[in-house]
Amino acid sequence: MKVLITGGAGYIGSTIGLACQDKGWDVVVLDDLSTGRREFTEGTTLYEGDIADHALVARIFAEHPDIEATVHCAAKIVVPESVADPIGYYRNNVSKTIELLDSLRRAGCTRLLFSSSASIYEPEPDLTVNETSALNPQSPYAASKMLCERIMADVAAATDLRTLSLRYFNPVGGDPDLRTGLQNPKPSHALGKLVDAYTYGDVFTITGVDWATRDGSAIRDYIHVWDLAKAHVAALEHFDAVCTPEEPYTVINIGTGTGSTVRELVAAFTEVVGEGNLNVVEGPPRPGDVIGCYTTSGLALEKLGWKAELSIADAIRTALEWAKIRPERLGA
Ligand SMILES: NC(=O)c1ccc[n+]([C@@H]2O[C@H](COP(=O)([O-])OP(=O)(O)OC[C@H]3O[C@@H](n4cnc5c(N)ncnc54)[C@H](O)[C@@H]3O)[C@@H](O)[C@H]2O)c1
Repeated sequence: MKVLITGGAGYIGSTIGLACQDKGWDVVVLDDLSTGRREFTEGTTLYEGDIADHALVARIFAEHPDIEATVHCAAKIVVPESVADPIGYYRNNVSKTIELLDSLRRAGCTRLLFSSSASIYEPEPDLTVNETSALNPQSPYAASKMLCERIMADVAAATDLRTLSLRYFNPVGGDPDLRTGLQNPKPSHALGKLVDAYTYGDVFTITGVDWATRDGSAIRDYIHVWDLAKAHVAALEHFDAVCTPEEPYTVINIGTGTGSTVRELVAAFTEVVGEGNLNVVEGPPRPGDVIGCYTTSGLALEKLGWKAELSIADAIRTALEWAKIRPERLGA
């Protein structure tokens, strides 16, 4: 199989690319390298450019007529940045996605996997969600994902471009073989900040301690990025059974099914690095922060035969190992 991965030089897209390559599949990457890294595209065919560039997408399909599916990971992803710059976020994530869909349709691509997000959900009172839960995105970033889903559903109904939207929960960790990991030395999510605090001796702030959770800190369904990548392989393998001409748009949650609070994540991290190695303080939530949720859906297992296998401790260990080698790998 040959797949096109937009955003394939980024954290998640490159890990998906590796999982596909490990299967023996060919990977073509389209990435503007705005946050992605060329180093992460080894073994793939990289086209450097914008997803909205019609001529470029047409050239990719002309040069690779055997691309069987597109995985659309390219997006801006920083929630507080999206609150400060909604136009930039809607332009990049929504307007440019519309242009990409048009290019894909014209190129005759019929299979699209979309990197959606659990941040679009309104959690149930017990903080669980499944694919039928209400949507209520709390930031321009999350809203951009919801809008893309709506557009893709309409396009799937009207054209041959079927879409499987995977709603990721909270990806953490890195490739177990340390070929990729978080490229950003200053990541915005809790595990990234923990690694940062531990590595550089900074303070770790629990952002928000008055949420209605068991310990006041926000809750997340942390999923190892390697499990997430394998979910894409499963989704590509099962695509035609899941997205049929009769049901050309489908949504599946990709999470572990377990919610962990930030305090519990800190405890798991401390268990790995040892007591006394971390300076933890409490602070207010950041703009756009949400209480969080975790999935109770069994749809990924039922439809894709996939379930998460790795633990938070696995993710913490790979994140720490990657942080050690990242400066050498990426020169930053
Ligand atoms: N990281 C998370 O916590 C998380 C959670 C849920 C969903 N997602 C989704 O997963 C996808 C990948 O996220 P990530 O964490 O790997 O982020 P990332 O920033 O590492 O990757 C995004 C990639 O897209 C590229 N890109 C951005 N805009 C582009 C454009 N207009 N044209 C071409 N390339 C462009 C960037 O250079 C980068 O390589 C995103 O769609 C994101 O919304 C991420």
